[in-house]
Amino acid sequence: MKMNIIAVINQKGGVGKTTTAINLATALAAVDKKILILDLDPQGNASTGLGIPKSRGIQSSYGVLLGIVKPQDVIQETYIKGLSVISSTIDLSAAEVELYQQNDRDSHLKNAISSLEFDYILIDCPPGFGLININALNAANKIIIPLQCEFYALEGLTQLFNTIQSVRSTINKNLVVSGILLTMYDRRNSLSRMVANDVRSHFGKLVFETVIPRNVRISEASSFGKPVILYDVRSSGALAYIELAREFLGREDNE
Ligand SMILES: Nc1ncnc2c1ncn2[C@@H]1O[C@H](COP(=O)(O)OP(=O)(O)O)[C@@H](O)[C@H]1O
Ligand SMILES: [Mg+2]
Repeated sequence: MKMNIIAVINQKGGVGKTTTAINLATALAAVDKKILILDLDPQGNASTGLGIPKSRGIQSSYGVLLGIVKPQDVIQETYIKGLSVISSTIDLSAAEVELYQQNDRDSHLKNAISSLEFDYILIDCPPGFGLININALNAANKIIIPLQCEFYALEGLTQLFNTIQSVRSTINKNLVVSGILLTMYDRRNSLSRMVANDVRSHFGKLVFETVIPRNVRISEASSFGKPVILYDVRSSGALAYIELAREFLGREDNE
């Protein structure tokens, strides 16, 4: 089975990483793909956003990352057919320090999950450039970068691409950017349009054509522990994420 591991990453918080991970995962599961979400954010929003309570201790992505438990033993099924989760715990915030003391600190995650069998593993990354994210970038073969359409969006992107480049030239030469995803787009807002145009002129085809609009149903859905695709499938947010899944799979076919 060819496994794709996708890191959903941006060092900024609140840009739509978790929302993208759970909704893309749900849309892919709906077309019969076998999906795992690996929640690597100590906040655990991907877990709770799928109705899975945050874990405690090592029975979680924390235990997997530190090599204390086997991922197979901590995978939980969600109520969505084909979609499983390894949930996170606040203990993960200590993992950075604990990993730092180990020799193969960049490769822990890669080694731990390489034997899993899924069509796609989506890693919901925490903000920042710490060791958890370096592990995610090393384990992944693809990256999706959600980018909020706001004034400082482009500023952080250079730094992110530098990090990706340095991971590629040292520990993971197979890493590619699947796409940059414009999120929280407000078409009535000229700044939103300007940022979107800017990003497209800089990054061209690397930017998904699908744009995720700012849509209140998305934020409502997360408070009900549901992906927006299940909460309100006709909302603009749900339709956009379904479209993203279609575009994403189209890109996969063209490889
Ligand atoms: N397109 C959107 N429209 C409206 N609210 C959104 C949208 N995308 C995300 N949100 C909300 O914004 C907040 C941050 O999104 P989240 O996906 O958790 O970002 P991150 O994982 O990057 O920190 C959440 O409350 C989420 O429900
Ligand atoms: Mg998040």
